[in-house]
Amino acid sequence: MVIQKSDIRFTVIGEDASYVIETYTGEYRNLMALITDKIYVEDFGECKGMGRCGTCVVEIMDIEDNLHLLERNEEATMKKIGMTNPNYRLACQVLINEELKNATFRICYNY
Ligand code: FES
Repeated sequence: MVIQKSDIRFTVIGEDASYVIETYTGEYRNLMALITDKIYVEDFGECKGMGRCGTCVVEIMDIEDNLHLLERNEEATMKKIGMTNPNYRLACQVLINEELKNATFRICYNY
């Protein structure tokens, strides 16, 4: 058995608290799955990561430019829910990898 080191560390700001997340590439398939597991958020990620429901929006607070690039169905879904600011992403389209190191995300509850 290979033991993975938690070498990716970033912050997620929730409704009432801030969470320092420690994880590694491959522990979760995307940021939505991680938030669902580590921080319970009601009705978050209803389409389970298909990029279509728009219930997993997070705001990127201070990170690399690469995290602003939209994936798959993301652009159409974000337009559908009226979110055109590039600082907002669907958490299900944000992969857990080195780019997340030292990033800060805010969960968007009301938009
Ligand atoms: S889980 Fe549905 S858009 Fe992200």
